Amino acid sequence: MNPSTNYQYLITAHNDNLAATTRRPGFFVRTYGCQMNSRDSEKLTALLLNLGYEPAASQEAADFILYNTCCVRESAEDKVFGHLGRLKRVKKDRPHLMIAVSGCMTQQEETAKKFQEKYPYVDIVFGTSNRHKLPEFIWRTMEMGKQVVDISGIDDTDITEITDVSVTTREFSHKAGVNIMVGCNNFCAYCIVPYVRGREKSRPMADILKEIEAFAADGVKEIMLLGQNVNSYTGGFPELLHRANNIDGIERIRFMTSHPKDFSDALIAAVRDLPKLCKSVHLPLQSGSTKVLQDMNRQYTQTEYLTLAEKLISAGIALSTDIIVGYPGETDADFEETLTVARKIRFSGAFTFLYSKRSGTPAANRTDTIDSKTASERFDRLIAEVYPIMLEINQAKIGQTLEVMVEDAKPDTTYKGRADDHTLVHFTASDALHPGDIVPVNITEAKTFYVSGKTKEI
Ligand code: 5AD
Ligand code: SF4
Repeated sequence: MNPSTNYQYLITAHNDNLAATTRRPGFFVRTYGCQMNSRDSEKLTALLLNLGYEPAASQEAADFILYNTCCVRESAEDKVFGHLGRLKRVKKDRPHLMIAVSGCMTQQEETAKKFQEKYPYVDIVFGTSNRHKLPEFIWRTMEMGKQVVDISGIDDTDITEITDVSVTTREFSHKAGVNIMVGCNNFCAYCIVPYVRGREKSRPMADILKEIEAFAADGVKEIMLLGQNVNSYTGGFPELLHRANNIDGIERIRFMTSHPKDFSDALIAAVRDLPKLCKSVHLPLQSGSTKVLQDMNRQYTQTEYLTLAEKLISAGIALSTDIIVGYPGETDADFEETLTVARKIRFSGAFTFLYSKRSGTPAANRTDTIDSKTASERFDRLIAEVYPIMLEINQAKIGQTLEVMVEDAKPDTTYKGRADDHTLVHFTASDALHPGDIVPVNITEAKTFYVSGKTKEI
């Protein structure tokens, strides 16, 4: 039997197990982590729909539960194991329940082994590069009645297969993520991503543009170009932005994530000049100390980062960032440098993280670790530095009119949307609005993470 084509067979089989042949089995997908994972989950959802599964009303009502996981920090993994622990009892009461775990966390060999040894009630464990084989994995576990663990394909699966969009769904009607490349070659010393997503592979530009055109034809207004390091897209990232900017129907283009070492002047000019390119860039700093940056293998110095950031800001582009606190060997003086850079640049958004040891990375071998008390004191001091600046940046928007794209349009509630520069805006409106509408909003109030206002009467 060919597992990938005999979809009906699977559904019949799951229904037999259900002993309730009158309904289709329901599925529930939970996504952890970044936008890449969210995009992968949309494709996994489509595979399940194609097989004949239907969305369950809740996790409790589901016959098939899939967790698409992240492992960038230990806390992300702990969360998944916590949720899986709870499913053990559920499965005792409902033995036909099928549980699958996919994504970055499973792609670590140690973790895959842990599933075999300690989580035998998880039926399917698969990775980041063999997602398209989910129907086969379901078939295998049903046929053999035992756990399937398969994390193969990380180095030998073709990019067109990994980013295939022939089977996909979309979480939002007005915005969509588009993979332009997968994997990472940078090997920052703290980071597990290159080990679980493999080497960089760029997608052919024609495929990317075709996907964006199809989205535009389907009413999508905003696209987010996705990759671990979009600037090293081999087809030429500024060129891709120019071509995407020409696609009718698309009104806003964002991208993430950028690596400072690859952010060229041509790219700055493209973001500044192309009308659909949003004037905001996420530019992870990680540390303000050149010594720590070197230890992290980030390949830029504090001065180089400052020069780049200043160019972007003077081109009218808002900056957000990621910062890691408590990296092994980080001295008080190193940490002060991070505060200095944050003060100089004035980020409009900052994700701050405590360093988390990831086994298999070079940083995991270091013995000069920072004790947790010092690390959390530094973390608190960093927040005390960056949050008031974010509030001041938002306060400066009071009295302005921002062009806001509606994101959340639930009846009888305040609308939520994003300005071009990614400012989160809560607002009221006299007319009914829909996701994707762009409206002018007068800003009257500011908080650290958002501003509020009312649509401008025209
Ligand atoms: N510990 C803490 N933060 C990390 N990040 C990546 N790896 C680690 C780690 N081991 C952060 C970086 C990255 C963001 C997505 O997650 O800041 O930019
Ligand atoms: Fe990780 Fe560095 Fe690659 Fe980003 S650029 S995914 S932090 S290794």
